[in-house]
Amino acid sequence: MKRKKVSIIGAGNVGASLAQLLVQTGLSDVLLYDVAEGMPQGKALDLAEACPLWGSSVAINGTNDIADLQGSSVVVITAGLARKPGMSRDDLLHANASIVGGVAAELPRRCPDAVIVVVTNPMDVMAQLVWKRSGFPQRRVFGMGGVLDSARLRAFIAWQLGVSPKDVEAMVLGGHGDQMVPVKSLVSVKGVGISALLPERKIEEIFERTKGGGAEIVSLLKNGSAYYAPAASVYEMVKAVLLDEKRLLPCAACLEGQYGAMSLYAGVPVVVGAGGVEEIVEVPLTGQEKAAFDRSVSAVGRLVAALAL
Ligand code: NAI
Ligand code: 2OP
Repeated sequence: MKRKKVSIIGAGNVGASLAQLLVQTGLSDVLLYDVAEGMPQGKALDLAEACPLWGSSVAINGTNDIADLQGSSVVVITAGLARKPGMSRDDLLHANASIVGGVAAELPRRCPDAVIVVVTNPMDVMAQLVWKRSGFPQRRVFGMGGVLDSARLRAFIAWQLGVSPKDVEAMVLGGHGDQMVPVKSLVSVKGVGISALLPERKIEEIFERTKGGGAEIVSLLKNGSAYYAPAASVYEMVKAVLLDEKRLLPCAACLEGQYGAMSLYAGVPVVVGAGGVEEIVEVPLTGQEKAAFDRSVSAVGRLVAALAL
């Protein structure tokens, strides 16, 4: 069987880290595309030379030619600027819209059947932009934010309780921004609800740290944003598509009435399989959580309006 090809637009920190995961695990062939001359080729060569050590037989190539996207099963968009200390994800709006809009316009000609995973921030708005500009069906354009935010929350809970992070489940919904919504009823340790394990005050503290999780790393790195956990999060989504896993993952998907929103991207539980977004699952939210979700979605809506999408 011919191996599937994953193309990564933007061979920077997130893109190259994702490429490493795909190549090291042998999940797919990989194309790294970037506008920086020689850089994607150099990173691809470096990764290819690690394949004998990793026991990997996949092909990895780097390019500055967008035509090389042809034959991609999945395209991951990480091209754009990352934030610096003091910046919010929203501050990247116009610069990244111009980069991502340009890429999206190429997709129908280059890889009309691909599933697109959007990473560039502000991610929910960029997903909306890719959907509009590409003309792809909504189910084949979705965004990564919730898997990362939920992983952060899972890690913080695990550290607090002294348990393995793999036994902690969580979902963070809404936009991947300062108003994201950690959903308490969906946080559990091997099925035990978090309220039975931690006092409310501590849960709230951990929720606040989760919301500021991206900024916490930006303030430490000083010249960029997180990339190891983001790449691992995209990997989960790409794997779910390539292996048709039907994973239930929090992803930015286009809501058409679900959760009371219309034609707007926001983070919700999604069944992810070969078709991309195969189903949007509506989970019960408390009044407070729904109000927070609505505020978060409205914030996405304001940015979408600012781009006149
Ligand atoms: P980076 O600066 O390391 O890499 C970005 C790359 O995009 C650079 O190599 C640059 O040359 C390239 N690029 C710029 N214009 C391009 C174009 N027109 N075509 C192709 N490539 C182009 O940044 P990093 O850390 O990889 O982050 C990338 C984006 O992902 C940022 O917007 C960041 O905020 C976002 N991000 C989103 C996350 C999420 O959870 N949704 C998590 C982490 C990062
Ligand atoms: C993060 O949450 C930058 O959105 C990215 O780390």
